[in-house]
Amino acid sequence: MKANLVLLPGDGIGPEITAEAKRVLENVASRFGHEFTFSSHQIGGIAIDSCGDPLPAETIDACKASDAVLLGAVGGPKWDDPSAKTRPEVGLLKIRKELGLFANLRPIRLFDELVDASPLKREIIEGTDILFFRELTGGIYFGDSGRSGSGAGETAFQSMAYSVMEVERIVRLAAKAAQQRDNRLTSVDKANVLEPSRLWRQTAARVMAEEFPDVKFDVVLVDAMAMHLINRPRDFDVVVTGNLFGDILTDEASMLPGSLGMLPSASLGEGGPGLYEPIHGSAPDIAGKGIANPLATILAAAMLLRHSLSLADEADAIEAAVGKVLADGLRTSDLARGGKAIGTKEMSEAVLDRLA
Ligand code: NAD
Ligand code: IPM
Ligand code: MN
Repeated sequence: MKANLVLLPGDGIGPEITAEAKRVLENVASRFGHEFTFSSHQIGGIAIDSCGDPLPAETIDACKASDAVLLGAVGGPKWDDPSAKTRPEVGLLKIRKELGLFANLRPIRLFDELVDASPLKREIIEGTDILFFRELTGGIYFGDSGRSGSGAGETAFQSMAYSVMEVERIVRLAAKAAQQRDNRLTSVDKANVLEPSRLWRQTAARVMAEEFPDVKFDVVLVDAMAMHLINRPRDFDVVVTGNLFGDILTDEASMLPGSLGMLPSASLGEGGPGLYEPIHGSAPDIAGKGIANPLATILAAAMLLRHSLSLADEADAIEAAVGKVLADGLRTSDLARGGKAIGTKEMSEAVLDRLA
């Protein structure tokens, strides 16, 4: 098959990890007889530096014309001034919105070989397999915001809103995914305090009762969920939640497999290109050192093959190769816990080697 793929390397470790994921995709293309063409475009801080805009129109057009987009990460201390006109993160939020990517799938998959790399005990995490559906184009991230007043009276606000339609569509996708898995769905909210969460809970419960009576459904408050995730992670199958809660809970959940550097994500809408990225950021503390874990991005490339190109065998091959690398004891420093660590390039070369 032919596919036109857009790479958005971004900032910090972004260019290092997307370069390695690209090598893996090229290898898969030649091995399975596909023709992938790649074009790189700017997003984030690097785009602010070159043209003052974290998401140039040229990048949006290229993404819209593509079959799928693979993104590294955006942001960094250079662009962190709170009074700056714009920020790298604005570019990421805008491309998600422009492409209508309301569903962010974040699988928390535990490779057996990594169980002992987690800071949590084996008996708690063994067998964990959770699929998060994070709502990605609504909620507090996209609410009205502003400032007024001055001095000690200066006030800032950002509002949180969800519509019935926004909740219905993400809950339906999550419920359908549950039907393909262990048939359980948990909706996470803060309905004891927040009005949008009450609408979220009512809507989710109605959709589940009317359309998915076969799926076992429950609701959990987000503060309690933060605890359950590290106390009894095996009890969850598919989890659906809003934009902010999903962001926070999945960084927490990265400690189940042991590192942020292991978790990929897929952002999907209704048709059109999907966007694939690791859930982690630009890791400024290790950028340029050649030690970042490329596996989250490589696993995001596998999700791209599965979800945007319907190449399930190719995606399985990448995931199996990652499993073999881990089984062989190879670890980047984020997972080595003081043991012997290999670098970014060596890790992706090990994956290429096991793909063979
Ligand atoms: P971060 O995810 O970049 O890093 C958190 C910690 O995890 C750091 O210690 C980092 O070294 C480590 N880490 C992350 N990815 C790793 C990898 N692949 N291999 C090894 N270690 C890894 O979060 P942060 O430091 O809070 O944020 C840094 C910048 O990234 C900020 O500007 C933030 O806005 C941005 N960010 C971007 C994205 C994105 O582009 N999708 C996501 C999160 C944060
Ligand atoms: C993520 C990041 C982004 C988010 C930021 C950088 C806008 O943390 O992809 O998880 O909050 O969505
Ligand atoms: Mn995040």
